[in-house]
Amino acid sequence: MSGSKKRIFIKTFGCQMNVYDSEQMANLLRPMGYDEVDEAAAADLVVLNTCHIREKAAEKVYSDLGRLRQLKETRAEKGETMQIAVAGCVAQAEGAEIRRRAPVVDFVVGPQSYQRLPQMLKGEAGPLATDFAVDEKFERLAKKRAANSPTAFVTVQEGCDKFCAFCVVPYTRGAEHSRPADEIINEVRALVRHGVREVTLLGQNVNAWGANSEDGWGLGALIRHLAQIDDLSRIRYTTSHPRDMDEDLINAHGEIEALMPYLHLPVQSGSDTVLKAMNRGHSMAMYQKLIDKVRAKRPDIAISGDFIVGFPGETDADFEATLQAVRDIGYASAYSFKYSRRPGTPGAGREDQVPETVKSERLQVLQALLNAQQLEFNNSQIGNTVPVLFDKKGRHDGQICGRSPYLQSVYVQGPASLIGKIASVNISGAGRNALNGVLDQEAFVTA
Ligand code: 5AD
Ligand code: SF4
Repeated sequence: MSGSKKRIFIKTFGCQMNVYDSEQMANLLRPMGYDEVDEAAAADLVVLNTCHIREKAAEKVYSDLGRLRQLKETRAEKGETMQIAVAGCVAQAEGAEIRRRAPVVDFVVGPQSYQRLPQMLKGEAGPLATDFAVDEKFERLAKKRAANSPTAFVTVQEGCDKFCAFCVVPYTRGAEHSRPADEIINEVRALVRHGVREVTLLGQNVNAWGANSEDGWGLGALIRHLAQIDDLSRIRYTTSHPRDMDEDLINAHGEIEALMPYLHLPVQSGSDTVLKAMNRGHSMAMYQKLIDKVRAKRPDIAISGDFIVGFPGETDADFEATLQAVRDIGYASAYSFKYSRRPGTPGAGREDQVPETVKSERLQVLQALLNAQQLEFNNSQIGNTVPVLFDKKGRHDGQICGRSPYLQSVYVQGPASLIGKIASVNISGAGRNALNGVLDQEAFVTA
């Protein structure tokens, strides 16, 4: 098989960890002759990299598989083969059941075992890999990552031991695991050699990174080391848990120039009763204190969060506490969701489920407040000059797009040659989702 050209199409659902995993799957299969294409119809291998966190994720996968079955049959009529793999958290949760329900599927690989795909494709391994082989996974990942963008994700931590009562992640991604520091530093160095200027360190609980390491390094120490890499201009990390936000990481926000002033710190609810029922392990006062500390070190930091409305037992008063928390903190951006019952989690078994209509109403009210705060934050940038890392073309000819330090999308008229570079932009307009600006001709920050 190796040597002959093949086409792979990967559809990614869900989180940034999946985006990283999809990229790694493409890297793993490239030496076998697979090139990525952007539609399933012509592909020799289709991978659905699935997410199980909310809604009827598994059902969406089965309906995609129905469509793929037709494609596969059409290809077979022409004497061509199309193989189908289901990866990600639905693969982990459903396992062999997927191939029983959808025989069109050739391979099922969980998020900690997709490194086996090459052997599976060569017929050297069975069709199912769903064990938690996380060490093996990172050892086998292609060390030299091809970079086609000035920004890159790097998974540094996997899994979760927190067992929030609503969440499937501890079951689908397994226990907390940190990659060794030298492996991460080498991966980032290789990316920077390929032109990457910004890395986002990824993990389900990224700030728990290093928790069990012998050298006592935490995420703050890792960031301090990465910040010494020449030509690495920006470092970000996501997603953090309030319980793992230690002093060193908080201090890093005040001390490390490359660490961008943006913190995604999910709170989920503003009610202590609900936080307790969710098994979050923190109160609202603890969360507020963390935010105060981070703001004391980095006053301009943009705070982002995740919220769930309608966790079982949530009352009107609990929901009001969430609205009050949002007013008190002031979010630059946020993600908010209706509680979704996940089989096997403690929340799913509770009898005091909140009716769908109540969840929808609460979500609407919360999102209106969060959207207003996001617009207000973006408006506050008008008139400022901010460094923007340009990473792609814009929506119109002659337009380019990049990110501010606060992770806002910024559009300007400018030459494509600026893509991959950081330049100063005078912010002239703002909407909820993006800023507009004018290149500051006098002050190009870096070449
Ligand atoms: N229902 C709704 N939202 C959920 N999340 C996780 N599990 C659920 C669920 N069962 C949200 C949380 C988490 C984000 C990644 O997804 O807010 O922080
Ligand atoms: Fe899920 Fe909670 Fe772990 Fe986040 S911390 S992955 S919400 S169990």
